[in-house]
Amino acid sequence: MNSLLGQMNNNPQFGGYYFFASNDKAVSVWNIYFHRGGVFRSDTDILKILAGVFRHLSNDYNAGIVEHVLQSLETGNGIDEACLDDSSSGQLRRLHPLISENRQNSVKDLYHSDGPFYFKYLREFDDNFVRVLTDYREASAVKTSSVLDIGTGLGILPYMYLQNGHSVKTLDIADVPKEFGLVRAILGLQDHTEFTIVKYEAMVRFDVRFDIITCSQICFNNYADDDCWRSDEWRFFLKDLHDNLLTEDGFVWLGFNHFNQEVDGRILELRYQDIHDLFEPYMDPDATYKAARLHKSDIADLLQLH
Ligand SMILES: C[S@@+](CC[C@H](N)C(=O)[O-])C[C@H]1O[C@@H](n2cnc3c(N)ncnc32)[C@H](O)[C@@H]1O
Repeated sequence: MNSLLGQMNNNPQFGGYYFFASNDKAVSVWNIYFHRGGVFRSDTDILKILAGVFRHLSNDYNAGIVEHVLQSLETGNGIDEACLDDSSSGQLRRLHPLISENRQNSVKDLYHSDGPFYFKYLREFDDNFVRVLTDYREASAVKTSSVLDIGTGLGILPYMYLQNGHSVKTLDIADVPKEFGLVRAILGLQDHTEFTIVKYEAMVRFDVRFDIITCSQICFNNYADDDCWRSDEWRFFLKDLHDNLLTEDGFVWLGFNHFNQEVDGRILELRYQDIHDLFEPYMDPDATYKAARLHKSDIADLLQLH
């Protein structure tokens, strides 16, 4: 066990390799020792390390199970059935990595060199997974949530929510390469809607409301074109989400694509000053790229809906 733990602790950097290696080692320690053999009070320190690694790697589902087992050791209370493989065996649940090597390889196998621009995401799937992990952390869920991912692409971000126990729907334009649908199937993302967002047109309606609406590397605002959305178009979109798609305590997380060109002698990442002015109060100062989180109540304030 020490050898496996050492391999985790020797990985201080948070690159792709370290992410997958550390996650796999932590899963191995659990499955080899605790899933089969149960836990003792003397395991507390190791369980704390595992819980910390899983939290750090956004494997919240695994972290939740380890933390529950730790708590039951500390309090002497029984272990919840949700943490057991089945109640008759009494064996602790077997854990899984956030994404298996098999799944990663199945996605990479779909790559062929004459595919369109976005095919680079297939070949570099593992690197993209680690990139999107940052979005997942920044758009963090505080409770088990219903999630809609807009402009989903390969579906990496909604997959992370799904693996961590949230319910997930995805949305993208119909005209994506057929391989994107195959990737979603590999990732188990079954609830997909084809829809094109158009400025000043209402979004498609769903039979549920969402606690979290994520939009990562946004393109539907035509960010690279001259008809890039201005603040009025954004206001229309936000009002529609507010009125028809968000739950009362829900939020929308907007991860902007960068324009990054000089306008009137200034670099405006969001292209126009009015867009910066609109979103600045809701920008996450710690985000890697420009990203805003607006709760339903923020949208109501912004649009003076009270
Ligand atoms: C840069 S990709 C980002 C994919 C994914 N969210 C990620 O972060 O890896 C932009 C996505 O937005 C989708 N998209 C572009 N225009 C759209 C529109 N008008 N309505 C809905 N989706 C759109 C594209 O098909 C593509 O999947």
